[in-house]
Amino acid sequence: MNFLEERIVKDGIVKKGNVLKVDSFLNHQMDIALMEEIGKEFKRRFGDREVTKVLTIEASGIGIAAFVAKEFGVPMVFAKKSKSINIDGDMFVAEVESFTHKNKNQVIVSKRFLSEGEHVLIIDDFLANGCALQGLISIVESANAVVEGCGIVIEKGFQFGGRVIRNLGYRVESLAIIDAMDSETGIITFREQ
Ligand code: G4P
Repeated sequence: MNFLEERIVKDGIVKKGNVLKVDSFLNHQMDIALMEEIGKEFKRRFGDREVTKVLTIEASGIGIAAFVAKEFGVPMVFAKKSKSINIDGDMFVAEVESFTHKNKNQVIVSKRFLSEGEHVLIIDDFLANGCALQGLISIVESANAVVEGCGIVIEKGFQFGGRVIRNLGYRVESLAIIDAMDSETGIITFREQ
């Protein structure tokens, strides 16, 4: 098991409905030493790529992406969720449907912060059905920038997002891929990587 899988086993809580709670160290309270380690691990995995910007989506992606951006020495930009339909031409926009929350958000990034020809590493905390990731990819591509890869902290391998995005040809690196989890026993099965 890698450092993240060990932490998930120690402090993650499996809830009914295939939900993993990691709010004691990842997406509510954050363990900063762990964030640093995550930043370094993504630098190690994507070190062969030219990266000029790290892109994530609010809210939980921000803290993680900040540590990744620090390792690469580049700025981090986060897409904002907006219900507003009054979005002007200064924004890249994508529609993101949350399968879990059954709602739709428009996510926006200012054109000032994403330029043609940039090399973008996309970072997020969870990959489930991949809606958020697909939205971020579409924003990068509407800027005529290049998606260098997608770094995910926890992928729920039993949902379809990872498969769909890899099949589209994008490089997805997930620090932990969960193939199964059982809320009765608390047992989490990780994919061998
Ligand atoms: P998708 O983007 O991969 O399609 O994910 P989905 O719509 O299924 O998930 C909606 C939200 O729930 C996302 O956060 C996602 O990160 C989160 N999520 C999905 N599965 C789990 C899980 O097992 N545990 C936890 N803790 N979160 C999960 P969000 O609400 O869009 O963003 P945020 O504001 O919380 O960052």
